[in-house]
Amino acid sequence: MIARATGRPVSITGLGCHVPERVVTNDELAKMVDTNDAWIQERTGIRERRIAADDEALTDVALPACLRALEMAGADPSSIDLLIVATVTPDMSFPSSSALLADRLGMPEAAAYDLSAGCTGFVYAVVQAHAMLAAGLAKRALVVGGDVLSKILDWSDRSTVVLFGDGAGAVVMELVDEGGFLGFDLGADGGGGANLWLPGSGSRRFEEPSKYVKMNGREVFKFATRVMVSSADAVLGECGLAIDDVDVYVPHQANVRIIDHAVRKLGVPEGRTVVNVDRYGNTSSGSIPLALADAADDGRLKPGKLVLLTGMGAGLTWGSALIRWTHETTGALQ
Ligand SMILES: CC(C)(COP(=O)(O)OP(=O)(O)OC[C@H]1O[C@@H](n2cnc3c(N)ncnc32)[C@H](O)[C@@H]1OP(=O)(O)O)[C@@H](O)C(=O)NCCC(=O)NCCS
Repeated sequence: MIARATGRPVSITGLGCHVPERVVTNDELAKMVDTNDAWIQERTGIRERRIAADDEALTDVALPACLRALEMAGADPSSIDLLIVATVTPDMSFPSSSALLADRLGMPEAAAYDLSAGCTGFVYAVVQAHAMLAAGLAKRALVVGGDVLSKILDWSDRSTVVLFGDGAGAVVMELVDEGGFLGFDLGADGGGGANLWLPGSGSRRFEEPSKYVKMNGREVFKFATRVMVSSADAVLGECGLAIDDVDVYVPHQANVRIIDHAVRKLGVPEGRTVVNVDRYGNTSSGSIPLALADAADDGRLKPGKLVLLTGMGAGLTWGSALIRWTHETTGALQ
């Protein structure tokens, strides 16, 4: 799906992010599996990640992010009439994490549902919210992207534990006078789904069910380097814009080599790419909002700037959104 934003302008008016307190370094991982700091840094660019406590589930990590986003937008929780939570690690299959969060936040009027699109979940969710707002079905939306991948990793599998971390972000979205979302690209290829999957997590029977993530890293790498470029090109083309027009490029934070490849192929001018995978690893649906928070705090993300978001992940999925930033969003990280 490739489309220009239609209807009334919609933008992000509040941003909040949160990560668990516990920092896990590469050296600590080297005590658990056969790996080392040099390999992880060279192959992924990751130095450390945040890992949730035993009793911390997705909604615990997402809640402070939501509160911060609402505060920044000056929005009372009861004014939210749409809550979408993008995640592959909900507290449980049902009730949905969005229903649980709506209850904890005090949003009795909100339509609330979870959305599953792997690490692309946040991009998918903002597109959904945009459509609902622009069509007049909702007035003010809270969109959450977050994951606690640490809960579904096999901690003896070095091919996955080095990559992921936990974190969440939330945005308030509503109608604005001008600016905001300009266009979108979303896609999915279930044919490649088994390259990044959770075999024992649903209704299909498996001879050897596994509740842990399994990944074919090399195939995902090839897929990622392809779609990070094609999806960004698609949305820019649809909106009649070029990469030189983009002020802030916010790629999904999976691996610094994937980001570097996309930057080179797209020709992103120097100094415009946000990278924080070194500090958080791949936080799945939390990755793009966490990167937005960093860009705001280092002064790059200001009203008027053209921002390109591109994600990819399990599904396999991909997605991009172009936004003319409208609001001041510094101090998002709680
Ligand atoms: C996983 C990934 C970092 C591996 O990097 P790579 O350069 O492809 O590495 P390879 O798989 O080719 O492995 C290279 C060597 O390192 C070894 N190795 C693999 N994992 C290792 C680890 N954690 N520590 C140390 N060595 C490791 C391999 O066994 C291999 O050894 P060999 O050459 O003796 O066979 C990379 O493929 C990747 O990032 N893929 C995308 C994953 C992703 O982003 N997933 C989430 C998408 S949202």
